[in-house]
Amino acid sequence: MTLTTEPMHARQRPPDRLARLFDGGWPEFIHHDAETDRYLGRVRELFRDLELVVLDDDVPVAAGWAVPLRWDGTVGDLPAGYTDSLARALRVHDAGEPGDTLAMLAVQVRSDVRGRGLAGAALTALRDLAGPTGCARVICPVRPTLKARYPLTPIDRFATWTRPDGEPLDPWIRTHTRLGARILAPAPRSQVITGTVAEWETWTGMVFPDTGDYVIPDGLTTLRVDVAADTGVYVEPNVWLRHL
Ligand SMILES: CC(C)(COP(=O)(O)OP(=O)(O)OC[C@H]1O[C@@H](n2cnc3c(N)ncnc32)[C@H](O)[C@@H]1OP(=O)(O)O)[C@@H](O)C(=O)NCCC(=O)NCCS
Repeated sequence: MTLTTEPMHARQRPPDRLARLFDGGWPEFIHHDAETDRYLGRVRELFRDLELVVLDDDVPVAAGWAVPLRWDGTVGDLPAGYTDSLARALRVHDAGEPGDTLAMLAVQVRSDVRGRGLAGAALTALRDLAGPTGCARVICPVRPTLKARYPLTPIDRFATWTRPDGEPLDPWIRTHTRLGARILAPAPRSQVITGTVAEWETWTGMVFPDTGDYVIPDGLTTLRVDVAADTGVYVEPNVWLRHL
Protein backbone atom coordinates (compact mmCIF):
# COMPACT_ATOMS: atom_id res chain seq x y z
CA MET A 1 0.00 0.00 0.00
CA THR A 2 1.49 3.33 -1.12
CA LEU A 3 -0.54 6.20 0.23
CA THR A 4 -0.46 9.74 -1.13
CA THR A 5 -2.75 12.68 -0.53
CA GLU A 6 -3.79 15.52 -2.80
CA PRO A 7 -6.60 18.08 -3.14
CA MET A 8 -9.74 16.55 -4.58
CA HIS A 9 -9.77 19.16 -7.35
CA ALA A 10 -6.16 18.49 -8.37
CA ARG A 11 -7.24 16.44 -11.37
CA GLN A 12 -10.18 14.90 -13.15
CA ARG A 13 -11.16 11.63 -11.52
CA PRO A 14 -13.08 8.78 -13.13
CA PRO A 15 -16.68 9.16 -11.88
CA ASP A 16 -16.99 5.44 -11.15
CA ARG A 17 -13.99 5.57 -8.81
CA LEU A 18 -15.45 8.51 -6.93
CA ALA A 19 -18.85 6.87 -6.79
CA ARG A 20 -17.22 3.80 -5.25
CA LEU A 21 -15.38 5.91 -2.71
CA PHE A 22 -18.51 7.71 -1.54
CA ASP A 23 -20.86 4.76 -1.78
CA GLY A 24 -22.43 3.83 1.55
CA GLY A 25 -21.78 4.81 5.11
CA TRP A 26 -24.34 7.58 5.55
CA PRO A 27 -28.04 7.29 6.30
CA GLU A 28 -30.23 8.84 3.61
CA PHE A 29 -31.73 11.41 5.99
CA ILE A 30 -28.34 13.04 6.60
CA HIS A 31 -28.44 14.31 3.01
CA HIS A 32 -31.65 16.27 3.68
CA ASP A 33 -30.42 18.94 6.07
CA ALA A 34 -31.85 22.12 4.53
CA GLU A 35 -29.65 24.54 6.46
CA THR A 36 -26.48 22.66 5.60
CA ASP A 37 -27.54 22.56 1.96
CA ARG A 38 -27.76 26.34 1.94
CA TYR A 39 -24.09 26.61 2.90
CA LEU A 40 -22.46 23.67 1.19
CA GLY A 41 -22.16 25.08 -2.34
CA ARG A 42 -20.20 28.15 -1.29
CA VAL A 43 -18.21 26.26 1.32
CA ARG A 44 -17.01 23.70 -1.22
CA GLU A 45 -16.09 26.44 -3.66
CA LEU A 46 -14.32 28.73 -1.18
CA PHE A 47 -12.45 26.04 0.70
CA ARG A 48 -11.81 23.58 -2.11
CA ASP A 49 -8.13 23.35 -1.19
CA LEU A 50 -9.21 21.85 2.13
CA GLU A 51 -10.93 18.87 0.49
CA LEU A 52 -8.46 16.01 0.22
CA VAL A 53 -8.41 12.58 -1.30
CA VAL A 54 -6.18 9.75 -0.07
CA LEU A 55 -4.87 7.58 -2.91
CA ASP A 56 -3.49 4.08 -2.76
CA ASP A 57 -1.40 3.63 -5.90
CA ASP A 58 -3.46 6.40 -7.50
CA VAL A 59 -6.83 4.85 -6.60
CA PRO A 60 -9.04 6.88 -4.20
CA VAL A 61 -9.48 5.05 -0.90
CA ALA A 62 -10.48 7.87 1.46
CA ALA A 63 -11.48 11.50 1.45
CA GLY A 64 -12.05 14.28 3.93
CA TRP A 65 -12.61 17.98 4.15
CA ALA A 66 -12.29 20.86 6.56
CA VAL A 67 -13.11 24.56 6.92
CA PRO A 68 -11.27 27.43 8.62
CA LEU A 69 -13.19 29.36 11.25
CA ARG A 70 -12.57 31.45 14.33
CA TRP A 71 -12.77 29.97 17.81
CA ASP A 72 -11.39 31.39 21.07
CA GLY A 73 -10.40 27.99 22.48
CA THR A 74 -13.17 27.79 25.10
CA VAL A 75 -15.97 25.23 25.21
CA GLY A 76 -18.49 28.07 25.41
CA ASP A 77 -17.35 29.49 22.07
CA LEU A 78 -17.52 26.18 20.15
CA PRO A 79 -19.88 26.14 17.18
CA ALA A 80 -23.10 24.19 17.88
CA GLY A 81 -21.72 21.46 15.63
CA TYR A 82 -21.34 20.54 11.98
CA THR A 83 -23.88 22.93 10.41
CA ASP A 84 -22.90 25.84 12.61
CA SER A 85 -19.24 25.28 11.66
CA LEU A 86 -20.19 25.85 8.02
CA ALA A 87 -22.13 29.00 8.92
CA ARG A 88 -19.26 30.31 11.02
CA ALA A 89 -16.66 29.60 8.34
CA LEU A 90 -18.74 31.59 5.84
CA ARG A 91 -19.26 34.45 8.31
CA VAL A 92 -15.54 34.65 8.99
CA HIS A 93 -14.76 34.60 5.28
CA ASP A 94 -17.38 37.24 4.47
CA ALA A 95 -16.05 39.49 7.23
CA GLY A 96 -12.62 39.26 5.62
CA GLU A 97 -11.15 37.78 8.80
CA PRO A 98 -8.54 35.01 8.74
CA GLY A 99 -9.58 31.71 10.29
CA ASP A 100 -7.58 30.64 13.33
CA THR A 101 -9.07 27.16 13.77
CA LEU A 102 -9.43 24.31 11.32
CA ALA A 103 -12.65 22.29 11.74
CA MET A 104 -12.41 18.83 10.15
CA LEU A 105 -15.97 18.15 9.08
CA ALA A 106 -16.06 14.74 7.43
CA VAL A 107 -13.98 11.72 6.52
CA GLN A 108 -15.08 8.85 4.37
CA VAL A 109 -13.24 5.61 3.73
CA ARG A 110 -14.14 3.34 0.82
CA SER A 111 -16.39 0.67 2.31
CA ASP A 112 -14.23 -2.32 1.31
CA VAL A 113 -11.09 -0.96 2.99
CA ARG A 114 -12.47 0.23 6.34
CA GLY A 115 -10.85 -0.82 9.60
CA ARG A 116 -7.29 -0.53 8.20
CA GLY A 117 -6.37 2.88 9.55
CA LEU A 118 -7.10 4.83 6.37
CA ALA A 119 -9.31 7.28 8.27
CA GLY A 120 -6.27 8.12 10.37
CA ALA A 121 -4.31 8.88 7.21
CA ALA A 122 -7.08 11.22 6.03
CA LEU A 123 -7.33 12.94 9.41
CA THR A 124 -3.57 13.39 9.62
CA ALA A 125 -3.44 14.90 6.13
CA LEU A 126 -6.28 17.28 6.99
CA ARG A 127 -4.68 18.23 10.29
CA ASP A 128 -1.45 19.00 8.46
CA LEU A 129 -3.31 21.73 6.57
CA ALA A 130 -3.65 23.74 9.79
CA GLY A 131 -0.18 25.31 9.59
CA PRO A 132 -0.36 26.30 5.91
CA THR A 133 -3.81 27.83 6.43
CA GLY A 134 -2.68 29.85 9.46
CA CYS A 135 -4.76 27.86 11.95
CA ALA A 136 -3.27 27.20 15.36
CA ARG A 137 -6.12 24.94 16.48
CA VAL A 138 -7.82 21.90 15.00
CA ILE A 139 -11.25 20.67 16.11
CA CYS A 140 -13.73 18.10 14.84
CA PRO A 141 -17.47 17.52 15.44
CA VAL A 142 -17.28 13.74 15.44
CA ARG A 143 -20.27 11.62 14.38
CA PRO A 144 -19.71 8.61 16.67
CA THR A 145 -20.40 5.57 14.54
CA LEU A 146 -21.41 3.28 17.42
CA LYS A 147 -23.96 5.78 18.79
CA ALA A 148 -26.55 4.45 16.34
CA ARG A 149 -26.67 1.31 18.51
CA TYR A 150 -27.52 3.44 21.56
CA PRO A 151 -30.03 6.02 20.25
CA LEU A 152 -31.71 6.42 23.66
CA THR A 153 -28.51 7.31 25.50
CA PRO A 154 -27.80 11.03 25.96
CA ILE A 155 -24.72 12.07 23.99
CA ASP A 156 -22.99 13.50 27.07
CA ARG A 157 -23.15 10.04 28.70
CA PHE A 158 -22.18 8.16 25.55
CA ALA A 159 -19.13 10.40 25.09
CA THR A 160 -17.77 9.25 28.46
CA TRP A 161 -18.11 5.51 27.80
CA THR A 162 -14.80 3.65 27.71
CA ARG A 163 -13.60 0.10 27.15
CA PRO A 164 -11.85 -1.84 29.93
CA ASP A 165 -8.50 -0.65 28.50
CA GLY A 166 -9.57 2.96 29.06
CA GLU A 167 -9.97 3.85 25.38
CA PRO A 168 -13.27 5.37 24.19
CA LEU A 169 -15.92 2.77 23.44
CA ASP A 170 -16.81 4.41 20.16
CA PRO A 171 -14.42 3.27 17.37
CA TRP A 172 -14.51 6.56 15.47
CA ILE A 173 -13.82 8.63 18.59
CA ARG A 174 -11.05 6.11 19.31
CA THR A 175 -9.41 6.76 15.95
CA HIS A 176 -9.26 10.45 16.85
CA THR A 177 -7.97 9.99 20.39
CA ARG A 178 -5.25 7.62 19.13
CA LEU A 179 -4.07 10.49 16.95
CA GLY A 180 -3.77 12.61 20.09
CA ALA A 181 -7.19 14.29 20.11
CA ARG A 182 -9.14 14.78 23.30
CA ILE A 183 -12.85 15.02 23.93
CA LEU A 184 -13.94 18.61 24.54
CA ALA A 185 -17.72 18.60 24.84
CA PRO A 186 -20.90 17.07 23.47
CA ALA A 187 -22.52 18.79 20.50
CA PRO A 188 -26.17 17.85 21.04
CA ARG A 189 -27.47 19.97 18.11
CA SER A 190 -24.86 19.34 15.44
CA GLN A 191 -27.44 19.04 12.65
CA VAL A 192 -31.21 19.54 12.60
CA ILE A 193 -33.08 17.65 9.89
CA THR A 194 -36.74 18.43 9.33
CA GLY A 195 -39.09 16.79 6.84
CA THR A 196 -42.70 15.86 6.30
CA VAL A 197 -43.89 12.52 7.64
CA ALA A 198 -43.91 11.16 4.08
CA GLU A 199 -40.32 12.32 3.51
CA TRP A 200 -39.16 10.63 6.70
CA GLU A 201 -40.96 7.47 5.67
CA THR A 202 -39.03 7.50 2.40
CA TRP A 203 -35.69 8.31 4.03
CA THR A 204 -36.01 5.59 6.68
CA GLY A 205 -38.11 2.89 5.02
CA MET A 206 -40.46 2.97 8.04
CA VAL A 207 -44.01 4.17 8.59
CA PHE A 208 -44.93 6.63 11.34
CA PRO A 209 -48.65 6.24 12.02
CA ASP A 210 -48.68 8.19 15.31
CA THR A 211 -47.19 11.23 16.91
CA GLY A 212 -44.21 10.24 19.07
CA ASP A 213 -40.51 9.42 19.20
CA TYR A 214 -39.13 6.68 16.96
CA VAL A 215 -35.85 4.77 16.80
CA ILE A 216 -34.75 4.98 13.15
CA PRO A 217 -32.07 3.03 11.23
CA ASP A 218 -28.63 4.64 11.70
CA GLY A 219 -30.08 7.44 13.78
CA LEU A 220 -27.80 8.58 16.59
CA THR A 221 -30.90 9.65 18.47
CA THR A 222 -34.64 9.30 18.01
CA LEU A 223 -36.87 11.01 15.44
CA ARG A 224 -39.73 13.12 16.79
CA VAL A 225 -42.83 12.84 14.64
CA ASP A 226 -45.84 15.16 14.88
CA VAL A 227 -48.55 13.74 12.65
CA ALA A 228 -50.94 16.71 13.01
CA ALA A 229 -48.20 19.15 12.03
CA ASP A 230 -46.95 16.71 9.35
CA THR A 231 -43.34 17.04 10.49
CA GLY A 232 -40.52 14.85 11.65
CA VAL A 233 -37.54 16.46 13.38
CA TYR A 234 -34.22 14.76 14.03
CA VAL A 235 -31.52 16.56 16.00
CA GLU A 236 -28.18 14.87 15.41
CA PRO A 237 -25.79 14.74 18.36
CA ASN A 238 -22.03 14.76 17.79
CA VAL A 239 -19.00 15.09 20.05
CA TRP A 240 -16.40 17.86 19.80
CA LEU A 241 -12.82 16.69 19.81
CA ARG A 242 -9.73 18.85 19.75
CA HIS A 243 -6.61 17.73 17.89
CA LEU A 244 -4.43 20.81 18.29
C1 LIG B 1 -15.84 6.19 10.23
C2 LIG B 1 -14.81 5.80 9.15
C3 LIG B 1 -14.29 7.06 8.49
C4 LIG B 1 -13.68 5.05 9.87
O1 LIG B 1 -12.73 4.72 8.88
P1 LIG B 1 -11.70 3.47 9.07
O2 LIG B 1 -10.61 3.62 8.10
O3 LIG B 1 -12.48 2.23 9.07
O4 LIG B 1 -11.17 3.79 10.54
P2 LIG B 1 -10.11 2.92 11.34
O5 LIG B 1 -9.40 1.97 10.43
O6 LIG B 1 -9.32 3.90 12.13
O7 LIG B 1 -11.01 2.09 12.30
C5 LIG B 1 -11.51 2.64 13.46
C6 LIG B 1 -12.03 1.56 14.34
O8 LIG B 1 -13.27 1.10 13.79
C7 LIG B 1 -13.18 -0.30 13.53
N1 LIG B 1 -13.83 -0.54 12.24
C8 LIG B 1 -13.88 0.28 11.20
N2 LIG B 1 -14.57 -0.27 10.21
C9 LIG B 1 -14.97 -1.45 10.62
C10 LIG B 1 -15.74 -2.47 10.05
N3 LIG B 1 -16.24 -2.37 8.82
N4 LIG B 1 -15.95 -3.55 10.77
C11 LIG B 1 -15.48 -3.65 12.00
N5 LIG B 1 -14.75 -2.71 12.63
C12 LIG B 1 -14.50 -1.62 11.93
C13 LIG B 1 -11.71 -0.59 13.43
O9 LIG B 1 -11.43 -1.90 13.76
C14 LIG B 1 -11.13 0.37 14.44
O10 LIG B 1 -11.32 -0.18 15.73
P3 LIG B 1 -10.07 -0.44 16.71
O11 LIG B 1 -9.87 0.86 17.40
O12 LIG B 1 -10.57 -1.47 17.63
O13 LIG B 1 -8.91 -0.82 15.86
C15 LIG B 1 -15.44 4.85 8.11
O14 LIG B 1 -16.07 3.80 8.77
C16 LIG B 1 -16.45 5.53 7.20
O15 LIG B 1 -16.08 6.07 6.15
N6 LIG B 1 -17.72 5.53 7.58
C17 LIG B 1 -18.77 6.18 6.79
C18 LIG B 1 -18.70 7.68 6.90
C19 LIG B 1 -18.61 8.15 8.34
O16 LIG B 1 -19.37 7.72 9.21
N7 LIG B 1 -17.66 9.04 8.62
C20 LIG B 1 -17.47 9.54 9.97
C21 LIG B 1 -18.23 10.74 10.26
S1 LIG B 1 -17.39 12.15 9.60
